[in-house]
Amino acid sequence: MLVGCQPGKPDVQTDAKTAFVDSVLSTMSIEDKAGEMTQLALEMLCVRPPSTPEKPKRQAPLEPHRLDSALVHEALIDLKVGSVLNCAGHAYGPDQWHEFIAGIQSAAAQKTTGIPVLYGIDAIHGATYTSGAILGPQQIGLAATWDTALVRKCAENTAIEVAASGIPWNFSPVLDVARDARWPRFWETFGEAPKLVGDMGVAMVRGYQEGPSPIAATLKHYVGYSRPLTGKDRTPAWIPERQLRQIFLPPFQAAIDAGAMSVMVNSGEVNGIPVHCDEHILTDILRDDLGFEGMVVTDWEDIRFLFERHMVAADYKEAIEMAIHAGIDMSMVPTDLEFPVLLAELVREGRVSEARMDESVRRILEMKYDLGLFTSGGMPPALSNYPAKESLEGAAARAAVKSITVLKNEGQHAIYPDKPILPIGGTGRILVTGPTANSLNALNGGWSGTWQGRDTAYNTPGRPTAVESMIEVFGADRIDFHEVGMNLTSSDIDRIAGHVAQTRPQCTVVFLGEMPYTEFPGNIEDLELFENQQELVQALKTTGTPVIGVYVGGRPRTFSETESMLDAFVMAYLPGDYGGRAIADVLIGAFNPSGRLPFTWPRHASAHLTHDRKFTEGETSGDFNPLYTFGSGLSYSHVETTSIALADSVYQLGDTVTVTVGLQNTGDRSTIETVILYSQDRVASITPSVDVLKAFKQVIVPAGASAEVQIQVNTDELGFIGKDNTYIVEPGVFGLRVKNQGIAFKLTL
Ligand code: GLC
Repeated sequence: MLVGCQPGKPDVQTDAKTAFVDSVLSTMSIEDKAGEMTQLALEMLCVRPPSTPEKPKRQAPLEPHRLDSALVHEALIDLKVGSVLNCAGHAYGPDQWHEFIAGIQSAAAQKTTGIPVLYGIDAIHGATYTSGAILGPQQIGLAATWDTALVRKCAENTAIEVAASGIPWNFSPVLDVARDARWPRFWETFGEAPKLVGDMGVAMVRGYQEGPSPIAATLKHYVGYSRPLTGKDRTPAWIPERQLRQIFLPPFQAAIDAGAMSVMVNSGEVNGIPVHCDEHILTDILRDDLGFEGMVVTDWEDIRFLFERHMVAADYKEAIEMAIHAGIDMSMVPTDLEFPVLLAELVREGRVSEARMDESVRRILEMKYDLGLFTSGGMPPALSNYPAKESLEGAAARAAVKSITVLKNEGQHAIYPDKPILPIGGTGRILVTGPTANSLNALNGGWSGTWQGRDTAYNTPGRPTAVESMIEVFGADRIDFHEVGMNLTSSDIDRIAGHVAQTRPQCTVVFLGEMPYTEFPGNIEDLELFENQQELVQALKTTGTPVIGVYVGGRPRTFSETESMLDAFVMAYLPGDYGGRAIADVLIGAFNPSGRLPFTWPRHASAHLTHDRKFTEGETSGDFNPLYTFGSGLSYSHVETTSIALADSVYQLGDTVTVTVGLQNTGDRSTIETVILYSQDRVASITPSVDVLKAFKQVIVPAGASAEVQIQVNTDELGFIGKDNTYIVEPGVFGLRVKNQGIAFKLTL
């Protein structure tokens, strides 16, 4: 457990913490306090070539990256900077992390206050910047498991390796709700449903903060970051307060209630105001409505961007003044030394009160106290205690295979003509091709070894790609692999199709999707899947050989015409280092797939709706026609939902409604079935949604067996944000649905 209690929960520990923090605060100068509110990137502390007239910009650190004692002294002792983040460009081994952390903390101990540095890192699907760390699925794949206990376990294991690297603070989870498939960080989310995002976010926060090696979680990017009108990173979002409170705030509320220690702010603007200077969002809502008492950190350079990008401040000093007044506690500066100096000036000039400064410094000191930094000095643990991989990889591998989602399974099985093509049977040759077939980077996505996740030099040796796993699982004699890149040409296509026509393999498996990206490098002009990949599928189909598509990527690109040519289609998301084997195990049938889609897959680029659409969005006109619906996914042994029942037909506000669902496994294999419950408010003062995800439960239904599952929803949860922008539950008739089984009841107040 963390040393202190969780924010906002008074007890004896809090009194001790308050007394301690008060004592430290009382010794601090304005400059000490300004330093505490400053976070610098590691690259600012590393040996680098001097800038020259020819190269005036700060140069990249020299390899191997190492601390520059003069730069460290200037930042940590002279300027008293209290936090450092990130790697300086790529992953390091645990030993090098220990060297960095020990060097930084030793310097920090020399400053007047001796306050340890708080080190933060992006470890979003494992300790992504620690070489050799276990890398599990990205959040979009974790969401597809619908298994919050497993997600918590994955987060616990991430925390173990992050803490073992000497780092106590993780900029994770992302609680943005993915509502636009074009958005380049869609894959970093838990999908489109606030309920699923919230439940998964709580699981991840608890995994980080309450596991065997606790570290601090960060809820990001608060708020409204995932809804830019253009679909492009950090471009304007227009989100009415009612929608902000209906869709985007609930996951943050749930994770704050779970004790999350920090929040990172959305770099974008919402309704014309950059969130980094929006007091209504950062203070009125976050502090007063959501009750957050922890620490708020900016995103990368976002105070400077108030005047360099958003043009709402005349200069850096004014931008700092605006951000601090709005509610920022710590600035992820992270690549200038002006911030603490200008902040101290603002306080001395009375433009920022010292009382306001103390609010932020107190939150920072309390977080350091809760993380035990004042007892450990922030020094790294013994390297000999670094955990064995075997103890950690199970959860990542399990999550990878549970995330794999079979969205289409038709065609004809190689042996049983009355069965669909998957799992692949028989003994015939399988032609494997496609640009994501032989790339570990494609399986991991961004924030893996490097920011964009594209540098193979930082991949963990020995972790198999998808085709390597297929060779391992199906046998080398069955796999005929034809490598192509993202830039595959028509001659590549002709060559492969010609080979297929000539050799007549049993089937072809084509790996589609995207290579890694995050943030603005992942911006797209068109949601349609790359033309060359679609032409490859079409050419393979023309040969008459069955074609199985496997998509490796984190956002649903549209390809409906091509999809119709596939005999089967498997969504692998970004399954991580164990994803190759996960895909192969599902394709051969070693694992009965249980993944369910955590978003709606649009049929056309201009028609991206979500499951909680309104009645006028297709229900009446019939044009809600996605390629794949939210929650869809097939297993090799189908579980039929045979009935739904309620104990009563009338409930009062505050009652818990227990829904009894009948299931029947119609096949010959045990199946992990996720029972997904939607509600529908039949008449409401704000237009109701056709479906709203309200609850889910995972059960194992043995082969041929029937089962009854009870799933609860409290009537208090059947409300919405009303005309006055507050939460309301209205009496009336409500529908509840699980797949094709529905039932209604009446709610009275
Ligand atoms: C980036 C991202 C944020 C990340 C931070 C630190 O710009 O927006 O998710 O945690 O910078 O790397």
